[in-house]
Amino acid sequence: MTHSIIFDTDPGVDDAQAIAIALRHPEVDLLGMTTTYGNVDVETATHNALLLAELAGRKIPVAQGAAAPLIKPRHAPPAHIHGANGLGNITLPTVSGRAESRCAAQFIVDTVNERPGEVTLVAVGPLGNLAAALQLDPTLVDKVKGVVVMGGSIREGGNVTPVAEANMFNDPDAAARVLTAGWPLTLVGLDVTHRCVLTPAHMARIEGGQGELGRVLAGSYAFYRDFYQSALGIDGCCPHDSCALAWLLRPELFTTSRGHLSVVTEGDAEGQTLFAPEGRDFIEDRWSRTPLVDVCLGVEGQTVSDWIAEVLA
Ligand code: BDR
Ligand code: CA
Repeated sequence: MTHSIIFDTDPGVDDAQAIAIALRHPEVDLLGMTTTYGNVDVETATHNALLLAELAGRKIPVAQGAAAPLIKPRHAPPAHIHGANGLGNITLPTVSGRAESRCAAQFIVDTVNERPGEVTLVAVGPLGNLAAALQLDPTLVDKVKGVVVMGGSIREGGNVTPVAEANMFNDPDAAARVLTAGWPLTLVGLDVTHRCVLTPAHMARIEGGQGELGRVLAGSYAFYRDFYQSALGIDGCCPHDSCALAWLLRPELFTTSRGHLSVVTEGDAEGQTLFAPEGRDFIEDRWSRTPLVDVCLGVEGQTVSDWIAEVLA
């Protein structure tokens, strides 16, 4: 089965790995990329999305989007994790393509309306573009085929605060709107992405199989790997954003649970994702009033990591 997707992204080292999969996998029809600030500022995200498509020899529409969160002030990009250029501070080739004149939200609205029931939105950055698209056209909830979000954490704890995952923390207000919009959504969060490790051996295969794109993926990985070594003590990196595509393409490798999500938008727990399993009674029903969604809670991490290397080798 072919999946027609719009990939919403803030590339970013692990975004770049996922983009390479979206560009390469025979069952993915990449209709466009929409960019957001997050790992880098939005102009750099757009540059990197254009570059990665060019290095893969593909002409893919790229539409620039959110430059800042909906409400809260923007945090500085995490240059110590992704590099100031989002790709591990390696020297990058020149880009010749340009972004669409339409903004990301309009691109999403137009593309979904042109192909109702066919388009899956895969979002792997802060969720401002999807929130803006919903504001422009609330009927999107009934017109998308599905929404896959890399973000959040149910049992794993956070990676930027004790309870919040980065994409949720960067724009909790947008996340709250997107995760409770009532469209068919699956959350692929740290509960599964922290079980996957892209090792140096995996990356050696990828570098060998991807030409100039492989050089960029391997060079940026080397920088990112240092962060994971010091932060989590692992030899390799968690391929967070590729896991969203793994879920789409190899769902049998994941276990999910259905229930209600909420996002904390203020206070010490801002950006935390709260999950109330379907049918479970709590002392009040306030956590169970949001629409039902699916969350990934388990994964065959080794198999997913091997799959990523296999697709890109
Ligand atoms: C998420 O945050 C970003 O830094 C990564 O690209 C990924 O989308 C992981 O928490
Ligand atoms: Ca990302």
